[in-house]
Amino acid sequence: MSLCLVTGGAGFIGSHLVDGLLQAGHSVRVLDNLSTGNLANLTEVRPRVQFIEGDITDLETLRAATRGVAWVFHEAALASVPRSVADPAATNRVCVDGTVNVLLAARDAKVQRVVYAASSSAYGASPSLPKRETDLTLPLSPYAVAKLAGEHYCAAFSEVYGLETVRLRYFNVFGPRQPPDSPYAAGIPRFLEAMLAGKSPIIYGDGQQSRDFTYVADVVHANLLAAKAPGVSGKVFNIACGHRTNPATSSTAKRTSLPRSPS
Ligand SMILES: NC(=O)c1ccc[n+]([C@@H]2O[C@H](COP(=O)([O-])OP(=O)(O)OC[C@H]3O[C@@H](n4cnc5c(N)ncnc54)[C@H](O)[C@@H]3O)[C@@H](O)[C@H]2O)c1
Repeated sequence: MSLCLVTGGAGFIGSHLVDGLLQAGHSVRVLDNLSTGNLANLTEVRPRVQFIEGDITDLETLRAATRGVAWVFHEAALASVPRSVADPAATNRVCVDGTVNVLLAARDAKVQRVVYAASSSAYGASPSLPKRETDLTLPLSPYAVAKLAGEHYCAAFSEVYGLETVRLRYFNVFGPRQPPDSPYAAGIPRFLEAMLAGKSPIIYGDGQQSRDFTYVADVVHANLLAAKAPGVSGKVFNIACGHRTNPATSSTAKRTSLPRSPS
């Protein structure tokens, strides 16, 4: 049994990771500023979790949060392309400065390994399919740049300080607790919300755009493997299901001609 810190543990993916770590018999501490996350995501496990309301942009908070921790799962981020376009400096502060703080605190607390929530947005304009970890990275948005910078910091901390880090590039994660009501919501929860209300979901463009969607339980499984597997420090792994899905096959969908930013 290990003590694990989940940054962003009150968010969509982080809260599922908390569940998975508890089920695997570990102790869990969560650090979250509740900016996009919600304590309701932790309701069922709240008595078994140490919760710190705090910000990863504050190094001292992170030093306190990493004390005695074996593994850090770094999920906290402003996880939105449109938000990063509206305010790139805020995204940079959280995703780059915040990640450097996580790594500094983990290094100094002698954490065994940091598992970093990276993003498939790193590939951006890179045309090849399927995406491979060896593909060129061509990030297109401030969010993608910031998440990729976080990756490079993870690799650099492994190289320079010997801190074990593993980067997992998630592809379009979906599942329970994914909010449909935020202005930055992803496609699947929006579609489900519309259909549950008896409405047609709206598809922008010709409906031929496709994504590789990944169920959140698979992301949790990947994190548990990444924490324990020998010989993976400094490496990056795509976390995807390997299938392209497009909305054109949905017979109930309404189409519009407006483009939509990828989530
Ligand atoms: N959802 C996806 O499809 C997807 C795809 C690729 C990568 N990711 C990455 O996975 C991680 C989790 O994403 P998510 O979809 O669960 O998003 P989310 O917004 O639900 O979770 C992020 C959590 O981080 C917290 N947070 C934000 N800023 C913080 C700060 N400064 N200090 C402390 N906590 C802070 C939020 O309150 C929230 O609980 C992110 O790092 C994101 O970049 C997500």
